[in-house]
Amino acid sequence: MAAQNRLITLNNGVRMPILGFGVFQVPDDQTEQVVTDALAAGYRAIDTAASYGNEEAVGRAIAKSGIPRDQLFVTTKMWIQHTGEETARRELDKSLRKLGLDHLDLYLIHQPLGDYYSSWHAMEKAYGEGLVKAIGVSNFYPDRLVDLILHNDITPAVNQIETHPFFQRADYQQLMRERGVQIESWGPFAEGKNDLFTNPVLAAIAAAHDKSVAQVVLRWLIQRDVVVIPKSVRPERMAQNLEVFDFDLTDDEMTRIAGLDTGASVFFDHHDPQMVAWLGGRRVD
Ligand SMILES: NC(=O)c1ccc[n+]([C@@H]2O[C@H](COP(=O)([O-])OP(=O)(O)OC[C@H]3O[C@@H](n4cnc5c(N)ncnc54)[C@H](OP(=O)(O)O)[C@@H]3O)[C@@H](O)[C@H]2O)c1
Repeated sequence: MAAQNRLITLNNGVRMPILGFGVFQVPDDQTEQVVTDALAAGYRAIDTAASYGNEEAVGRAIAKSGIPRDQLFVTTKMWIQHTGEETARRELDKSLRKLGLDHLDLYLIHQPLGDYYSSWHAMEKAYGEGLVKAIGVSNFYPDRLVDLILHNDITPAVNQIETHPFFQRADYQQLMRERGVQIESWGPFAEGKNDLFTNPVLAAIAAAHDKSVAQVVLRWLIQRDVVVIPKSVRPERMAQNLEVFDFDLTDDEMTRIAGLDTGASVFFDHHDPQMVAWLGGRRVD
């Protein structure tokens, strides 16, 4: 299964699996088993974050797996509370310690909030020291991304943003492509919102290929060259979500899915001051 996974090349030459595994909202006491199951299923890229509170459990599963480090692609993210140059560097060291790793494959600024320019300088330095193989951002809207690119030395390798059939980000993907930034989807299934798993358009396409709606959504994103990191705590779904390299969606099917776009988040708006205040006030150990 893993052998069928595709690698994409980031703007600094680092190669990243186009299909990985996310652990947001996996409770800390389940994460070690869930990541162990995901690695056994064939996933080699794991996406966590300091704010998920489960980096140590991810680290234990990685250590126990015995999989050589160079076959894994590990991403974590820095929380808003820890922006700033010195704080960011301490936070990177903390994440490395919790994960039990001597380097990350990808380190992301989790939100475009707080003093993230200073964090970016710390990340550029850590990249120079080889502690992180690639650095990037998450939840950056186009204005913030372009500004960060224009006023710093290193262009983010990745921008991890909400991307799914109801919020497709095609224009933004094009802008990122022109700027050399790889789009990575979070919430590929919109966490099931808007009845995604029973959507009639997706269900009809799934039936035509003898696949599930989840597989069609992942295939559609992969055919658009979007990196995906679906989350599941169930081994049968982990396996199912990997089986997306043995079929192709037709142009007509891609167009029908394009018609589901609402152009808006199904979660929250990063421009909403109340949301900015809520996120900025969230504290992480
Ligand atoms: N950067 C950010 O701000 C940010 C925000 C959100 C997420 N993320 C990252 O993106 C990853 C994925 O997003 P997400 O976890 O929010 O949501 P998601 O992957 O869109 O959806 C996960 C939900 O889909 C269900 N599911 C998974 N596979 C399925 C299948 N084959 N059939 C039916 N249901 C299925 C899961 O249930 P079960 O677990 O019960 O199977 C879970 O309820 C996260 O884990 C995290 O790593 C990043």
